[in-house]
Amino acid sequence: MVGRVAVIGAGSSGLVCVKVCVDEGLQPVCFERSDDIGGLWRFKESPELERASIYHSLVVNTSKEMMCFSDYPMPADYPNYMHNSQLLQYYRLYAEYFDLLRHVHFKTTVKSVSQRADSSKSGQWDIVTVNRDGEEERHVFDAVLVCSGHYTHPSLPLKDFPGHEKFSGRCLHSWEFKDADACRGKRVVVVGIGNSGGDIAVEISRSAEKTFLSTRQGAWVIGRMSSAGLPLDMTAITRLNNTLMRLLPKTLINWAAERSLNQRYDHRVYGLQPRHRPLDRRPLINDDLPGRILQGALVMKPNLRKFTESGVVFEDGSVEENIDSVVFCTGYKGTFPFLPASLTESSHREFTLYKRVFPPSLSPPTLAVMGLFQTKGPIMPIVEMQARWAVKVFTGMSRLPPEKKMLNVIKSERKMNIKSYPCPRQAALQVDYISYLDFMAEQVGVRPNLLVLLLTDPVLWMKVFCGPLTPYQYRLNGSGRWTGARQAILTQWERVLQPFRTRSVPELDSRPSLSPPWMLVFGGSLVAALVLSLQGPYQILDCCKHLLWDSWLMG
Ligand SMILES: Cc1cc2nc3c(=O)[nH]c(=O)nc-3n(C[C@H](O)[C@H](O)[C@H](O)COP(=O)(O)OP(=O)(O)OC[C@H]3O[C@@H](n4cnc5c(N)ncnc54)[C@H](O)[C@@H]3O)c2cc1C
Ligand SMILES: *[C@@H]1O[C@H](CO)[C@@H](O)[C@H](O)[C@H]1NC(C)=O
Ligand SMILES: *[C@@H]1O[C@H](CO)[C@@H](O)[C@H](O)[C@H]1NC(C)=O
Ligand SMILES: *[C@@H]1O[C@H](CO)[C@@H](O)[C@H](O)[C@H]1NC(C)=O
Repeated sequence: MVGRVAVIGAGSSGLVCVKVCVDEGLQPVCFERSDDIGGLWRFKESPELERASIYHSLVVNTSKEMMCFSDYPMPADYPNYMHNSQLLQYYRLYAEYFDLLRHVHFKTTVKSVSQRADSSKSGQWDIVTVNRDGEEERHVFDAVLVCSGHYTHPSLPLKDFPGHEKFSGRCLHSWEFKDADACRGKRVVVVGIGNSGGDIAVEISRSAEKTFLSTRQGAWVIGRMSSAGLPLDMTAITRLNNTLMRLLPKTLINWAAERSLNQRYDHRVYGLQPRHRPLDRRPLINDDLPGRILQGALVMKPNLRKFTESGVVFEDGSVEENIDSVVFCTGYKGTFPFLPASLTESSHREFTLYKRVFPPSLSPPTLAVMGLFQTKGPIMPIVEMQARWAVKVFTGMSRLPPEKKMLNVIKSERKMNIKSYPCPRQAALQVDYISYLDFMAEQVGVRPNLLVLLLTDPVLWMKVFCGPLTPYQYRLNGSGRWTGARQAILTQWERVLQPFRTRSVPELDSRPSLSPPWMLVFGGSLVAALVLSLQGPYQILDCCKHLLWDSWLMG
């Protein structure tokens, strides 16, 4: 019988794991190295070794209704895309509301996690921690949830760039970057066009004399704002869209996506154009980057080749002298120094995990890894579902397939992803937002039954199928059901609009009111017209969306 569960880390993942354990009648003991919750969302003025570190200006790239935990909506007045300090505030509210802090041991570092001698029978683990006085303590646990994060060890590929030893400027990693104060009037190179690279380049370009953004691959750049100024993820991540995406040929969708992205700013003209197509990889979410290029403050450059004494040479042979600093936004190495090497090592220098959660070789499966994946949506609701699934597996209510089958699944998923992500480590990390959530929800028994929903509660069905896939959908039914889930879904757009209501605007009385029957006639002819003029799936989708939006979503 599983009873005591060790939760390693009290970031957003650790907190939700503690909550899920309590819900399922287990006793979580959470160990947190630092003296507070929040993990990477707790901003510190200077980076600390082996701890994630963020820049001062960081604003989330996923919207509040999509990234909240499934039974605790964010306060209605929070902005849709909030500053990092406000997200930390949300985690404080969450921890307080569910009384999670009494399970957390602060200033306690997990030093090692190892299987007990009888682990093949008991599944138990020996855990060694170091407490605030530097004393070692030993514990025995029935199961382990690893929530230590994977943005802790910066990857700084200096050795790929000859001449860096003689370079007189400063080289730093985005992990060390806090703000652009030191860049005033300087000439700065930013290497890498991930989300951090884009943010940091834009911020530096507001202080520096000139900022160069060097990228090997380029990127599709998309803003946080979708049509009508709505949050991007709320319009993109819907079951309806997912179904259409599966029905339509991929090349057609890519073509339409490229067209619509290039309509805002031509990626070729702006020097952003990547080789891959939009659906292949996560786009870069950034509202300001193209504007900074348009204003000449930010200059796109190819990959860095080498350093000179006071500058850099790019792969196209162009040279920029008098460079004061180079900021490497080149990502992180995920490491789990406290886990047994036999679990974390594999041929691909990656942590081999079944469905990104369970080491396939473990029997019984009493250890699960949280948050070690990447996706085109918010991380937190997926981690919450990972925790719900892991706990079901720990308690034997859900079973994993045999090891051989798990290894086959891992192999075939990697093979599928490697088409878009040639690096095997990157390929292994990718999951598809909706199908991954639904897969785990199925295991937990909380996947909404759309047919039943359509027959019993069509209004809710409409929102679940056509509206954004907000996490509340997984609290409608089954174990862990939350009675507020239906209401939370019905009011989600209200909470999106609330933070905008800061000035009363004149009502447009003269606007013809569109009652539902008129909407149908009007909508029908509009769709027909669009189909006839072969405008491509995007416009049609967009149009449907607006009709639904007007008639249903806003009530
Ligand atoms: C710059 C940046 C921006 C991001 N923006 C978004 C976003 O907008 N939306 C989104 O969905 N995701 C975003 N992410 C992803 C983000 O990492 C996850 O969403 C999530 O918040 C990570 O939480 P975590 O709890 O898994 O890890 P962390 O927040 O890193 O927390 C790990 C915790 O474990 C503790 N710990 C580590 N090792 C030990 C040990 N041995 N013993 C005890 N304690 C230990 C640490 O002290 C820390 O408190 C972003 C990531 C980065 C780097
Ligand atoms: C549908 O989803 C894709 C990818 O998930 C996204 O790029 C696209 O914008 C979405 N379509 C609409 C109409 O929102
Ligand atoms: C948001 O930014 C983080 C950090 O760079 C990144 O890992 C994540 O994939 C981004 N989310 C989306 C939806 O692009
Ligand atoms: C909720 O669960 C019950 C019992 O498990 C099932 O009969 C019912 O169809 C479910 N409802 C929905 C909407 O999924």
